[in-house]
Amino acid sequence: MWTVFPLLGNPENPGDWVRRLTLYWLSMAKRSGKQSKSSSTRPRVAIAIMAAGKGTRLKSRHPKVLHEIGGKPILAHVIAAAKQVAAAQDIFAIIGHEADQVRAAVAAMGVQFVLQAEQRGTGHALMVAHDALAPYDQVIVLSGDAPLITPETIRRLSEFHASAKATMTLLSAEFDDPTGYGRVIRKSAKSTEVRAIVEEKAANPQQKKIREINSGFYVFAVPALYENIGELGRENPHREYYLTDMAAVFHRARKKVVVMKTPHAGEVLGSNTRAEMAYLDARLRLAKCHQLMADGVTIFYPQTCVIDSDVEVGPDTVIEPFVQLRGNTKVGSDCRIRSYSVLEDSELGDGVTIRPGTMMEGARIGAGAIIGPFSHLRPGSEIGDGAHIGNFVETKKIKLGKGSKANHLTYLGDAEIGERVNVGAGTITCNYDGVNKNKTIIEDGAFIGSDSILVAPVKIGRDSYVAAASCITDEVPADSLALGRARQTVKEGWAREKREEQAAQKSKQK
Ligand code: UD1
Ligand code: CA
Repeated sequence: MWTVFPLLGNPENPGDWVRRLTLYWLSMAKRSGKQSKSSSTRPRVAIAIMAAGKGTRLKSRHPKVLHEIGGKPILAHVIAAAKQVAAAQDIFAIIGHEADQVRAAVAAMGVQFVLQAEQRGTGHALMVAHDALAPYDQVIVLSGDAPLITPETIRRLSEFHASAKATMTLLSAEFDDPTGYGRVIRKSAKSTEVRAIVEEKAANPQQKKIREINSGFYVFAVPALYENIGELGRENPHREYYLTDMAAVFHRARKKVVVMKTPHAGEVLGSNTRAEMAYLDARLRLAKCHQLMADGVTIFYPQTCVIDSDVEVGPDTVIEPFVQLRGNTKVGSDCRIRSYSVLEDSELGDGVTIRPGTMMEGARIGAGAIIGPFSHLRPGSEIGDGAHIGNFVETKKIKLGKGSKANHLTYLGDAEIGERVNVGAGTITCNYDGVNKNKTIIEDGAFIGSDSILVAPVKIGRDSYVAAASCITDEVPADSLALGRARQTVKEGWAREKREEQAAQKSKQK
């Protein structure tokens, strides 16, 4: 009674009346304060990424969203954009086809997963996500196969939806060739309100001429979505629940459906075929090159370079044609990476020169080092500042100290090599005895003569010499010379005698 009829009090007692009026104002002020607070609190926003589909058009054994573009799975690009907009605990990847594989591939990104065990369409994907999404006010739905989407556009779409007070907002784009995409049917040409989305296969000739396409990115008011999603039918060639049909469902229910057209049509491109993937990959990589160039990197013929999205390169580094920088490679400034080199998950300090044809994986190169041509640096290779690794040198799990050199035809594995060491041409660390990997230690200043075999485990002491063509099986103490080969013998006149013998035999035969 008090809150419903606060003004009713004892009419005989005006003081009571004033007290009650005051109490009423206070309670209203409190309530409206609460209301304005709740309307100003930001809506609880979730992001759902549809990634359960098989990707039939790829003719692939692997799930579509794990095919790579710009060196990482398509889905990883979409998740990365989503993470710029929402926290990982509010991002739900809807997975289904080869779900375990998809989950494992992006697990490190920390997002949540919803399993759509049977893939019965994009509308069905949202149906199975009900429990995950119910606690939210707004859900942004992203297509897991459109990797070029930017966080800015996702954010703008969400804000557009909120300010339009819409039930459903879709992102559209204008394509010269809209074939294959759903078309947006606006209420009228000028209106941002939408009547329906018509899929290519259901479109009549008139609708097929519409060049405004549905991008597959949406925002929904969550309660309205789940109150109405049951209206979706499967009257279409694939017998699937189409999320696109929600536009017509809401339109019939007199709920507001609006469209926001992105001026950057390229960012909504999907990857349904291998040809589309190649196109997106080229686009993404060229964009990466342009970003690096804007940051001060010189790239000759960027069209020929393959640089993954997460690669970092410092200013004034020069990248020659046909270079690949893959994975988490980080390159310092003032480096030069010459043609046909492939660097994967490697780190280069400043001023490093990579000569042509160098292969590198999981290696770390100190400032000013010179590598190549034709060097092969395998995981765990740590090359010190100013060191040289030359042609046909293979390294694995080694430390090569400052200023040390291994310039020709050498294998160095499981080795700790100090500073100022010279490793002669043809040196081989025999690190593997068929069962175990053994370590070779070469201390500072040692000189390993050409064609030496170092049978590990073995240690070459500081400032010592190993004579050329030695087979070293025992420790070489510091400051000593080790000779591990048979002494040379010379038989004078042997060749002449042999020739004379042969000549005598020939004349006998005649
Ligand atoms: C969809 C839209 C189309 C739009 C186009 C934009 C529908 C019916 N059509 O078509 O209007 O122009 O995107 O790219 O939505 N997925 C699931 N579960 C499923 C089915 C699909 O998670 O059961 C996922 C897919 O993995 C994919 C995304 O949803 O990442 C879109 O599905 P896809 O089959 O590629 O739809 P399109 O034919 O491209
Ligand atoms: Ca698609």
